[in-house]
Amino acid sequence: MQAIVLRRRPEGLLSWDDVELVTQPLPTLAEGEALMQVIYLSMDATVRTWLNRGEGYLPAVEIGEVVRCSGIGHIVATNCDAYAVGDLVYSLPGWATYGVVRDDLFTTKLDPDTPLRPMMSVFGGTGAAAYFGLLDVGKPQPGETVVVSAAGGATGSLVGQIAKIAGCRVVGIAGSDDKCAWVTEELGFDGCINHRTEDVAERLRALCPDRVDVYFDNVGGPILDDVLGALNQRGRVVLCGAIAVYNDTGRPAGPGNYLNLISRRGRMEGFITLDYWDRFDECFTQLKTWAAEGKLRWREELVDGLDRCPDALNMLFTGANTGKVVVQVVPEP
Ligand SMILES: NC(=O)c1ccc[n+]([C@@H]2O[C@H](COP(=O)([O-])OP(=O)(O)OC[C@H]3O[C@@H](n4cnc5c(N)ncnc54)[C@H](OP(=O)(O)O)[C@@H]3O)[C@@H](O)[C@H]2O)c1
Repeated sequence: MQAIVLRRRPEGLLSWDDVELVTQPLPTLAEGEALMQVIYLSMDATVRTWLNRGEGYLPAVEIGEVVRCSGIGHIVATNCDAYAVGDLVYSLPGWATYGVVRDDLFTTKLDPDTPLRPMMSVFGGTGAAAYFGLLDVGKPQPGETVVVSAAGGATGSLVGQIAKIAGCRVVGIAGSDDKCAWVTEELGFDGCINHRTEDVAERLRALCPDRVDVYFDNVGGPILDDVLGALNQRGRVVLCGAIAVYNDTGRPAGPGNYLNLISRRGRMEGFITLDYWDRFDECFTQLKTWAAEGKLRWREELVDGLDRCPDALNMLFTGANTGKVVVQVVPEP
């Protein structure tokens, strides 16, 4: 099997000096383990945080370990009662052609007829982040103004559409005119700010005349500060991610406008999608209903080959992606 292992802690974008593609024997399965052959790997910004030293919601990947990553594949050998050869599973195989899975929180058995690519883009962890982060943490009400950053990305593009379904005015923040055009012209956002060419604070004043009731934050950094400056009374800031600072080695600067949380009685709250594990069925049933009704659309960037994983992950940090980045390791059977 092939795997990409961590050789040193990256600084900035990931490079081949930080990781190495190795060929190694297939693992010997212990009792309770099964072997999955990987078909698709999900490129998530959080993978980059696991490569940093320090404590996150999962332990850091150690030097010499396979880069941790979620993906879909089928079981090719089993020593575990929960999985039979041929079963489709969504698990954490890592950047590798094969991964060991167990009957645990990180592995879900899928129906054999599950369409795999939509599972990566919307009916999996990305859709769950958008659904629970917006609806459970942000609690948008009809008529409220929702702002979402990385609006042309995997999570943000879904968040904006769910906020429209919830009856809100939706303004995206994205890094190109093309992304802004996609979310406004095709996904129904009411406006979009290009954070590379426009003054975000000034444009927020123009596009959100009633201020911001819910900010779904995918990026942190100066954009978080700008939106805090535009917060409405009882505004909610959903801390989903902070991709603007994941590549930094020092501590991120604090948002200067946080005092608005006091004067406007606001609230900032983080969440981790895995916390909603026992409600995933509810989420995917609802997302599939909205998709069938034509209310939910998505895009993906398919990248071919395990050896493209570092490039594919970096796309999230340079903004080269529109929608979900997925690496195809082998063709679907
Ligand atoms: N809490 C959770 O459980 C959870 C679950 C899933 C995802 N997340 C978080 O959600 C966020 C989005 O993840 P994703 O996988 O859906 O990625 P994505 O949005 O598809 O891709 C990331 C996007 O972030 C934008 N970006 C990168 N650097 C930026 C910067 N310095 N300033 C502003 N924008 C920047 C880029 O778009 P532009 O062209 O617009 O700059 C890029 O396309 C990440 O922060 C991730 O960690 C959290």
